[in-house]
Amino acid sequence: MLFLSKKEVPFKEIVPKGYVDIHSHLLPGIDDGVQTVYQSAYILEQFSKSGIKKVITTPHVLQDVWPNTTDTITRIHSDLLPVLKTLDITELEFKASAEYMMDDLFYQRVKEKDIIALHDNYILVEMSTFSAPMNLTEILFEIKLAGYIPILAHPERYTFYKNDLKKYEELKESGFLFQLNLLSLSGYYGEAIRGFSLKLINHNLIDFTGSDVHNYQQLNVLEKGFSPKVAQKAQAIMKNNAVFS
Ligand SMILES: [Fe+2]
Repeated sequence: MLFLSKKEVPFKEIVPKGYVDIHSHLLPGIDDGVQTVYQSAYILEQFSKSGIKKVITTPHVLQDVWPNTTDTITRIHSDLLPVLKTLDITELEFKASAEYMMDDLFYQRVKEKDIIALHDNYILVEMSTFSAPMNLTEILFEIKLAGYIPILAHPERYTFYKNDLKKYEELKESGFLFQLNLLSLSGYYGEAIRGFSLKLINHNLIDFTGSDVHNYQQLNVLEKGFSPKVAQKAQAIMKNNAVFS
C-alpha cells in the first residue's frame, strides 16, 4: 500500500534555483523588522544557505510610523554591504527597495517619482489591514502615470475584503499584481488566511511570492516548510520571481 507522508517539506528543498525574495524587513532599526546588524546578517546567511540567490529587502515606508526616505534606506543598505562581505556572505545578492503604504506620503512621492523600485518598474505597495485607501483609484492613476507597475503585498491578509474573490479580480483588472507571503502558507497568520491563500493560488490570482521575514521567529517558521501538497504549489509560483533576477 502506498504510504503518503504528511511530513513537511523543508523550505530549502522547495526554493527554486536562482530564487529572488522580494519582501522582507532586513535593514536594521528602521521599521518593525530586524533591529541590529547582527540579526540582519544572520537572517541573510540563513536565506543564502536555503538557496535564495537574491534578496530585495523592503523596509516599511509609512507616513505616521516609519516615514523612511530614499536616502535613509540607501544609506543603511550601503552600510550593511561591507559587513556582509566581511562575514563572507557573498553568494547572495543583496538589494534594497521598500514596501510603500498607499498613504498621502506615498501619493506625494509617486508624483515626485521619489520611489525605490523593486526591479525595473515594479514597486511593492500595501494597504492597511483594516481598510483600503479611500482614494485607491486616484493613487493607482498616479502610479501608472509615473510608469510604475504596482505589486500588492500579501493580498491574502486584507481580511476586510472578506475573502471575496470578486474584489480581488477587480483589483487585478485595475492593474495590481499580487505577492503572496510564504508565511501565509505556513499558517503563521492563522488557518483562515492559509486557506484563503490556497484559494487565491488555485484561482491563478497570485503572481509572485515573498517571505516578509522580520525576525528570527518568522525565519524559523519559514524554514520548517510546508506539507507536500502545499510545497508543490508554493514552488510553482515561486518560479515566477525569476523576473526579478
Ligand atoms: Fe512587509
